[in-house]
Amino acid sequence: MTNEFSKAMDFRHACKVFDDTKTISDEDMKFILEAGRKSPSSFGMEAWKFLVITNEDLKAKLKPACWDQIQMTSCSHLVIVLAGIDSVKVATGIPKQRFERTGMPAEQLEFYLGMYAGHLDNVLSSDENIYSWTVRQTYIATGNMMTAAAFIGIDSCPIEGFDKGAVEKILNLDTSKFQLATVLPFGYRLNEQSTQYREAFEDIVEFVK
Ligand SMILES: Cc1cc2nc3c(=O)[nH]c(=O)nc-3n(C[C@H](O)[C@H](O)[C@H](O)COP(=O)(O)O)c2cc1C
Repeated sequence: MTNEFSKAMDFRHACKVFDDTKTISDEDMKFILEAGRKSPSSFGMEAWKFLVITNEDLKAKLKPACWDQIQMTSCSHLVIVLAGIDSVKVATGIPKQRFERTGMPAEQLEFYLGMYAGHLDNVLSSDENIYSWTVRQTYIATGNMMTAAAFIGIDSCPIEGFDKGAVEKILNLDTSKFQLATVLPFGYRLNEQSTQYREAFEDIVEFVK
């Protein structure tokens, strides 16, 4: 079946070089970022943040910390996807706020908070475990942003080829609050799209009876 969504899935590829003469409009960038903001997250915690960088000097400074990949400086907008660390801790009051905004009654709120803390006992026991839990969720937002971009003819490349500590240092991140998840440049392709290599449908999908 071919429709607008499947066309976007075919259009998206890990773009290696962007046309640095082309700039994404504010309106299109907002459309892409909204797809990230509206993404699902465990318990609705939204433990993420998206830094949007257009400053050429800063892009150039970050490039060596990202394996010198050309996408870093040829892109129009560089989005740095961060995983939230302290915001998911009960003591910050943020999990309570997240539950509260749904308008649930006080006794249900207490129940939910207790369930949250109990279920995530191990996750919340260290910043390292929190990172590994929240970073997984940022990938959903990252995927949605890439597909949203492809839907409107904009290219992207998810980048994990980086020195995490070096990028966090350049960005002056307080890593007790946010840590680097993914580097996500957006722009317009300079070259033809690469071939999409995928395993056969039957090899990766199993209908269990
Ligand atoms: C988590 C993650 C990290 C990746 N890191 C890089 C990267 O650092 N540099 C790069 O050029 N591509 C990177 N890629 C892109 C993959 O290599 C690419 O998606 C895969 O080879 C399939 O190709 P396609 O996306 O063009 O279909 C990454 C992809 C993912 C999902």
